[in-house]
Formats: sequence, C-alpha cells, structure tokens
Amino acid sequence: MKRYLNKIRNLFFARYCQANKVSLLGRGYVDGRWPVICNKGAFHLGSGVCFRSFRTRTRIDVFKDARLSIGDGCFINDGVNICCSTGITIGPNTKIADWVVLYDTDFHAVEPSEPVSSESITIGKNVWIGARVMVLPGSTIGDHSVIAAGAIVRGHIPARSIAAGIPAKVIKSITCEDDWVRS
Ligand SMILES: CC(C)(COP(=O)(O)OP(=O)(O)OC[C@H]1O[C@@H](n2cnc3c(N)ncnc32)[C@H](O)[C@@H]1OP(=O)(O)O)[C@@H](O)C(=O)NCCC(=O)NCCS
Repeated sequence: MKRYLNKIRNLFFARYCQANKVSLLGRGYVDGRWPVICNKGAFHLGSGVCFRSFRTRTRIDVFKDARLSIGDGCFINDGVNICCSTGITIGPNTKIADWVVLYDTDFHAVEPSEPVSSESITIGKNVWIGARVMVLPGSTIGDHSVIAAGAIVRGHIPARSIAAGIPAKVIKSITCEDDWVRS
C-alpha cells in the first residue's frame, strides 16, 4: 500500500515539475512533502533526485534567465532554500542536509557605489553539505568534499576536502577513488 501511495505521489510530483517547466531528466522522488518550486528560468532536475521533507518544505526559486541544474541521484533534505538568480550547478550524488541555504546573489547592495553581488555557484559530484550550511555567491565546492554543519562558504573549497567554520576553511583532506559514492 505504502509503495503504491509513493508511486502516485511521485507521479503527481512529475506533473508538478511539468507545470513549473522543470526539465525532469528521469524519475524524481519525494519522501514527505514536495518542494515549493518557483521557476522563471531554466531548471534541470536529474534522474533519481530525492526530496525529503517532513518538517519544513524545501523552497527553490529560479529567476528569469537563470539556470539551476541538480545532478542525478542528489538528495535534498528538509527545509533547503535555493535562490538562483544567475546559475547554480550541483553535481551528481550530492547530499544537501537540512536547512542549507544556497544563494547566488546577495539581493542588496552594500553601498550606493557598489553593484549587488551575484555570481554563479558550482558544487561538484558526491559532495556532502552538512546541516545549516550557507553557500554564498561565487562559491565553488570540489568533488567528494564535505562542508561541516553550520559553515558559511564564500570562495573555493577544493575537491576531496572537509571544510568547516565561518568563513569555511579546509580542516582535513579525504582519500577516495573518483567513482566513490557516499552512502
Ligand atoms: C565534519 C563532520 C562530518 C566531522 O568530520 P570528521 O572528519 O569526523 O571530523 P572530526 O570530528 O575529527 O573534527 C575535526 C575537527 O573539525 C572540527 N569540527 C568538526 N565539525 C565541525 C563543525 N561543524 N564546525 C566547526 N568545526 C568542526 C572538530 O572540532 C575538530 O577540531 P579539532 O581538530 O580542533 O579538535 C561533522 O562534524 C559534521 O559537521 N557533520 C555534519 C552532520 C550533518 O549535518 N548531518 C546532516 C544529515 S544529512
């Protein structure tokens, strides 16, 4: 019975994606409540992406002319907030924990002479982003890396590293094969 209900929910989710002009490149999965999607740009959702939400719904905004791409097999946990004004790319098999915020724009200018800072974000494959992490405009996170809970990323985090703190700094490195996928 549960399997049947999940199947129906996933079918409705596919329709919901269609209605929001999300190009769903395979099957998407929802465990709990599905994300609120407001897509005015281009949103590519890979195959086998799972949205899990039992407490706070995930919210995804893609602005006009912006491009969001979520790779195959990604896992997006409760209450994630993605605001894409320029471009956000998330590689395959990346895990995004509860209440993570990905903003590729600062939304407001710091002072009159300065433009609003907006720059695309690139997150590699098999990355694990811990709970309550913020990833700010212009950031890049390399393949297989881990961002420790509560960190704020602004800048470049190299592949196969663990970064923590505010601003996030590399604290350790990770040894793994390139085809390794974190459980
Ligand atoms: C980063 C993490 C995975 C631990 O990795 P680890 O390799 O076992 O690291 P350690 O526990 O050995 O800690 C290494 C150092 O980083 C520090 N550290 C660990 N997590 C930290 C964090 N979130 N913020 C700041 N510093 C942190 C430790 O205090 C330690 O510092 P020290 O060397 O001065 O003692 C873990 O702390 C973490 O943040 N997990 C995220 C959990 C989560 O969000 N889950 C959501 C479910 S999807």
